[in-house]
Amino acid sequence: MSQSLQGKLALVTGSGRGIGRAIALKLASEGADIIVNFFRHREAAEKTAKDIEAIGVKAEVIRANVGDPAKADEMFDAIAHNFGHLDIFINNAASGVWHSVTELDVKDWEWTMNINARAFLLCSQRAAKLMEGRGGKIVSISSLGSFLALPTYAMIGVSKAALEALTRYLAIELAPKNICVNTVAASTVETEAIKFYIEEQGGLNILQITPAGRMVTPEDVANVVAFLCSEEAFMIRGQKIIVDGGMSITTPRSAEKEQD
Ligand SMILES: NC(=O)c1ccc[n+]([C@@H]2O[C@H](COP(=O)([O-])OP(=O)(O)OC[C@H]3O[C@@H](n4cnc5c(N)ncnc54)[C@H](OP(=O)(O)O)[C@@H]3O)[C@@H](O)[C@H]2O)c1
Repeated sequence: MSQSLQGKLALVTGSGRGIGRAIALKLASEGADIIVNFFRHREAAEKTAKDIEAIGVKAEVIRANVGDPAKADEMFDAIAHNFGHLDIFINNAASGVWHSVTELDVKDWEWTMNINARAFLLCSQRAAKLMEGRGGKIVSISSLGSFLALPTYAMIGVSKAALEALTRYLAIELAPKNICVNTVAASTVETEAIKFYIEEQGGLNILQITPAGRMVTPEDVANVVAFLCSEEAFMIRGQKIIVDGGMSITTPRSAEKEQD
């Protein structure tokens, strides 16, 4: 799969840091020009853009809080004005509160759902318009918490379940426009966001319950996203590809056996 995305334009939300950055660099290495979206960390976004340009493709940085519909609209207005089209939209940006279900309040719900689920709906609607007449690829980034009850992850898990349902509806509605929509769901990936969670859940040794024998990396996720953006994945629609080294289909006992 070399340079398969040459001449394509990709927007990756939240691509200054973490998994988004790895996705942006991977798509760039496949030849795509990249729009790097960020919210709070401009320096990180500028660094990602610089690294993308070093690969030999174009990069543009756009600040927008995707949880705010007016700001997301401004981002798409800028893309429409500057480029007039879009080929790939990766809905990666996410935020959320880590509380037990009984502690969740309206503010937690709105904050998390607006950034993780509503933004995917509104941004996909705008992205699809920019893909009209040429087709495109939309990939959302989810997590195992959409179907596994992970400690203190309820709010984000619910938002990811909504994102996955939206992925399926979009896949069907946008299929006639030649737009492929899928989701990639990862288990715990060591990024800044998750370090505190791994420490907090000290009792849960993620490595120990991962049959593949190592943690998932941002690059593991990026590789699958890039595949879904390629023509080889044309017939994959509305699916969730799990990248977890086998974690979600094992049990602590079988994982223990693997270690023996
Ligand atoms: N890390 C994991 O273990 C893991 C596992 C499964 C799935 N995921 C998913 O993978 C994706 C990336 O996760 P990550 O661990 O790389 O997260 P991260 O390190 O916390 O990065 C989050 C990214 O999203 C951006 N962002 C946050 N709120 C935003 C907003 N309102 N508008 C625009 N951008 C916003 C941040 O931009 P700024 O820094 O500029 O604010 C940052 O680039 C998320 O969808 C996450 O749910 C992560």
